[in-house]
Amino acid sequence: MLIDGYGRRVNYLRVSVTERCNFRCQYCMPEKPFSWVPQENLLDFNELFKFIKIAIDEGVDKIRLTGGEPLLRANLDEFVKMIHDYAPNIDLAITTNGYLLSEMAKSLKDAGLKRLNISLDSLKPAIAAQIAQKNVLGKVLDGIDRAIELDLRVKINMVPLKGINDSEILDILEYCKDRDIQVRFIEYMENSHANSEISGMHGREILESIKERYTIHRLGREGSSPSYNYQIEENGYIFGLIDPHKHDFCESCNRIRLTAEGHLIPCLYFDEAQSIAEAVRNNDIDRASAILAEVLRDKPKENRWSESDNEGSNRAFYETGG
Ligand code: GTP
Ligand code: 5AD
Ligand code: SF4
Repeated sequence: MLIDGYGRRVNYLRVSVTERCNFRCQYCMPEKPFSWVPQENLLDFNELFKFIKIAIDEGVDKIRLTGGEPLLRANLDEFVKMIHDYAPNIDLAITTNGYLLSEMAKSLKDAGLKRLNISLDSLKPAIAAQIAQKNVLGKVLDGIDRAIELDLRVKINMVPLKGINDSEILDILEYCKDRDIQVRFIEYMENSHANSEISGMHGREILESIKERYTIHRLGREGSSPSYNYQIEENGYIFGLIDPHKHDFCESCNRIRLTAEGHLIPCLYFDEAQSIAEAVRNNDIDRASAILAEVLRDKPKENRWSESDNEGSNRAFYETGG
């Protein structure tokens, strides 16, 4: 079992398979980064899988593939199958922007994928295009439909931004309720890579706009999830709110992150990381396990993120995988 220096059990590994993305979201990667990690620095699937096996053997039972946009990584379905065949019962999921999903959902499902979290920030084509800086809405909605049709478990992530999509909170909630899928509203997390002109809605403001139509009850956190669940009295629908400004989910944090380059990151807003790249390339499993143990031992008590400065970590979300 993986236990960190503060006694927290780590059972969740987020693996970013690429930092590249086909969107340029205002809150994440508004401009194409000056340089990408050179292709030869990326770990291939066999190398990533060597580490994943160690993590699973040590008790990780939840793996999420992220990016950038993970569906851009060639043959992602084969990677899903490798993980699924090794551990068919783990909670295996992907977080995606949905753009390539209608074409890929079937092969991902056949490979063993169980769940998908999909970003949907607007139901208006022009607003979705303003946020992602590309005309994306039609393809994203097709991807969501296809995933639901295939019985994949879907959650929607929305980041409400002031003056941009803040009037659509109830529309997105109704869209998800009608499809019986969960929505989580996420507070915008300020970071130095985002468009400096945007500002997010506070969790309290998000709840206020839902209360304009509904009575809501706070249910609580699901396990170690950063999301707080709320239930609508009138129809029983449950939605989530991820409010990192509160900083209160660190105490039950259960996750570590691995980047496509092999950096093992103990916390989203914390620059320190160690590389497992050399160890897995040399097939030195003991060394990779030892690095995992060190990263766990040094996992910080809480993140160093602050709204007003970017001292916590300058690492971009598209590199860490959110
Ligand atoms: P579930 O397994 O469905 O609960 O998914 P998840 O919430 O773990 O994954 P997802 O990729 O959908 O992440 C949703 C949001 O939570 C993203 O904006 C992430 O950046 C944010 N998030 C996930 N983990 C952390 C964390 O450790 N710290 C902070 N501050 N935010 C996180
Ligand atoms: N603040 C809040 N959420 C963000 N995401 C990406 N960048 C940010 C940010 N700066 C969200 C995306 C995606 C999830 C993985 O993270 O919308 O749904
Ligand atoms: Fe791409 Fe996701 Fe970042 Fe948007 S938030 S630019 S979809 S990685």
